[in-house]
Amino acid sequence: MLSGKRILLIIGGGIAAYKSLDLIRRLRERGAAVTPVLTRAAEEFVTPLSVAALAGGKCYGHLFDLTDEAEMGHIELSRAADLVVVAPATADLMAKMAGGHADDLASTLLMATDKRVLIAPAMNVRMWLHRATQRNIATLRADDVRFVGPNEGDMACGEYGPGRMAEPLGIVAAIEAAMGDGPMAGRHVIVTSGPTHEPIDPVRYIANRSSGAQGTALARALRDLGARVTFVTGPASVPPPGGVEVVRVETAIEMLEAVKAALPAEAAVFAAAVADWRVTHASASKMKKDASGKAPALDFAENPDILATVAQMTPGRPKLVVGFAAETDDVIAHARAKRARKQCDWIVANDVRPATGIMGGTENAVTLITAEGAEEWPRLPKDEVARRLAAGIAAALG
Ligand code: CTP
Repeated sequence: MLSGKRILLIIGGGIAAYKSLDLIRRLRERGAAVTPVLTRAAEEFVTPLSVAALAGGKCYGHLFDLTDEAEMGHIELSRAADLVVVAPATADLMAKMAGGHADDLASTLLMATDKRVLIAPAMNVRMWLHRATQRNIATLRADDVRFVGPNEGDMACGEYGPGRMAEPLGIVAAIEAAMGDGPMAGRHVIVTSGPTHEPIDPVRYIANRSSGAQGTALARALRDLGARVTFVTGPASVPPPGGVEVVRVETAIEMLEAVKAALPAEAAVFAAAVADWRVTHASASKMKKDASGKAPALDFAENPDILATVAQMTPGRPKLVVGFAAETDDVIAHARAKRARKQCDWIVANDVRPATGIMGGTENAVTLITAEGAEEWPRLPKDEVARRLAAGIAAALG
């Protein structure tokens, strides 16, 4: 699948750089041409000679070379590739990318490129979890930089946690997906996400605690498998992923219209926490306090059920319709009943009692309810839940 593709591989200065030597071999085995660039720090870990030998061509260093500039300027080098891959992407290199620095060849290439960029982060677990790195990750994601890994496990520094670079074959799979060759290539998926805001008057609204984190992670994971994603989002606190079509809405009725407008789709995943009710007659002007001290009485109307509407569409029903069920008790029984009532294929059930810390948190513990039964997943980061779900969707679509 990578035959004839040109990959600009920037190797950062981390112990994981040794895995990049194997990555070069794996890519060349698949017919890709690899142009390697080493940062100054990378040269402390792997030698330009071994990198050049494995790549079967010139290895570019950290300095601008006047001969190279005459033959092939850094602009051209950054554009001649089909994809730019940074592996390992160190905390420092990610900070440079997020800040837009261009003080050596690698960072200048990353600034000058007009191609998709995929990074394989690798660093100590504390560095990965550091607020500065987490800020940079959010910035890079918003800039549509693709990520593969890091994985969780034992680290060279003796600690345990997220920060290990993805394995070469995992990076190869991510490269294939980033090139549009993933298992979901050419497939359209709609993802709803975030809360809805139902107006009371021009300044007040009814909302819920959904951050949009799980829906956002899911849209990103589907995109990473090559899907064309329409991401219909209410006012979420987590920014939408890059590389997807974002449709912003406020209310449940707007969300339903946006979903209908985005059809047809092969799959639709309803991760939004849609308000069940709206205020029947939202006031056109700001409601004022009554001199009598009487609180206003609000009338409510039920919102359309977007998931049920789409799941019961004929024709036009996506092949796979997935709903979420946020419950606080009898999670599985309620989720099963919801699946039957709404007529969707899968329900991703989760327990959102405040004590679980799931709503608004970074982890999720879900049970997947399908026609075959209930499958309980371990508590995992929302990104990992999203990756598993996206892989399941890809498998179900065949
Ligand atoms: N959903 C939707 N439109 C609605 C309400 C919910 O699309 N108006 C979707 C959600 O995105 C989610 C699923 O339906 O995928 C379950 O939502 P939930 O609010 O948990 O279920 P309810 O239908 O509200 O059932 P209950 O009030 O009994 O919990």
